[in-house]
Amino acid sequence: MQKGFFITFEGADGCGKTTQIKLLDEYLRSRGKSVLLTREPGAKGLGVKLREILLNYDGEVSPNCESFLFLADRAQHVDCIIKPALQEGKIVLCDRHTDSTVAYQGYGRGLDIERIKMLNSIAVNDLKPDLTIIFDIDIETSLARVGNSKDRMESAGIDFFNRVRNGYLEIARQEPERVKVINSGETIDNIHKQIVELVEKL
Ligand code: TYD
Repeated sequence: MQKGFFITFEGADGCGKTTQIKLLDEYLRSRGKSVLLTREPGAKGLGVKLREILLNYDGEVSPNCESFLFLADRAQHVDCIIKPALQEGKIVLCDRHTDSTVAYQGYGRGLDIERIKMLNSIAVNDLKPDLTIIFDIDIETSLARVGNSKDRMESAGIDFFNRVRNGYLEIARQEPERVKVINSGETIDNIHKQIVELVEKL
């Protein structure tokens, strides 16, 4: 039986979610909460090796293979790290999770969305975030933030990232209860306040 809370942070590369997840982590800890801050791909152990392949392998990777590698990382992450932490009553903050695969491999790479969703639910054994925060950002701004030293995923190009962005917005339209969209164009402080409000409601 799950006892903690599971919160995921999503958005295109360079959207500012990593800054915000750290601020939320500090905020919750300062209030005495027990928090696990983690990420996908590559939280630890085997995941770190999968992350290395996913972000740095320079040969051909088919979209289907790419999906299965992200899903393999997720299955391990959920079974060995996320579920045990939730059972201990922790608040788990996860930088990327299932919606990344729907947005990037589904909308971005063009794989069938319903199939990706089905594979996701198998990988996580039907675990669902209590809250997902999507950071929406104009893609030209986000790619400029990423800069010139791009990894394998970040090199996919502007059309790809516009599909990813629209994919995220579609996910939010389909699941308005779970998924909230935040405008990444606002100040760091302002965004942090909005996030705290969403989390306090939980
Ligand atoms: P990372 O350096 O963690 O990016 P960020 O700081 O933007 O989260 O790299 C993760 C990359 O992998 C990022 O480009 C998104 C991509 N990704 C997918 O394509 N599918 C997935 O399921 C996940 C979890 C990530």
